[in-house]
Amino acid sequence: MKKIVVLTGAGMSAESGISTFRGANGLWDEYPVEQVATPEGYRANPSLVLEFYNTRRRQLLEVEPNEGHKLLAGLESEFDVTVVTQNVDNLHERAGSTKVIHLHGELMKVCSSREPYNEKYIKTLTPDEIEVKVGDLAADGSQLRPFIVWFGEAVPKIEDAIAALAGVDIFIIIGTSLNVYPAAGLLNYVPASVPVYLIDPNEVNVTRQGVTVIRKGASEGMRTLIDGYLSKIK
Ligand code: APR
Repeated sequence: MKKIVVLTGAGMSAESGISTFRGANGLWDEYPVEQVATPEGYRANPSLVLEFYNTRRRQLLEVEPNEGHKLLAGLESEFDVTVVTQNVDNLHERAGSTKVIHLHGELMKVCSSREPYNEKYIKTLTPDEIEVKVGDLAADGSQLRPFIVWFGEAVPKIEDAIAALAGVDIFIIIGTSLNVYPAAGLLNYVPASVPVYLIDPNEVNVTRQGVTVIRKGASEGMRTLIDGYLSKIK
């Protein structure tokens, strides 16, 4: 089985009704990123930050995976597929993808403020307990915090993403502006001989020769990729 690694960003979930971060009506226009997505913002106003993620969780419960997520999950019948996502939603999993690496954390998980990566204190929320408040504690007695990688924090899962590239045959990028590192740098680890496909309705700056750009939204773009390119490779 040929091996595919896919890097996804907010545009992957746009057709499900989740806002992207940058561009027209981007989430960071409505909510200042320093306030809601940095350790400093969290220290300054924890209840504002917790409520921001409560709102994101409420929204996540109301949306469904789109055709793009489903087509991607369907590739697993013919390819060994790893999805590396910057998204904190669970739409890849709900569409059926089985190998998903979340670089920036997961909305439906909470963790210890003291030791965010200690597995012992990471908890998956159920739909009826998505509201996290100041005073809700992790098992180590510290304030529960969203299991989200904020700006200025380390991205330990990038190591898993780089490891997943070993022996990759096809690399696909979907719906990311490639503004945020280290995620955007993953492409630098893809050998020059590996074909790279990029699906995005808007222009994205890629510093690599020979990328096949499919200038469409995630669902239509996935259809084009499968019918026009992947059907010729097995
Ligand atoms: N299908 C595919 N792509 C789309 C669609 C669509 N229907 N609609 C928009 N896009 C594209 C945009 O053109 C843009 O290139 O999705 C991309 C979204 O870019 P960003 O909003 O910058 O999101 P992303 O690249 O995922 O951001 C990276 O930044 O703020 C942080 O942690 C946050 O994980 C996030 C990271």
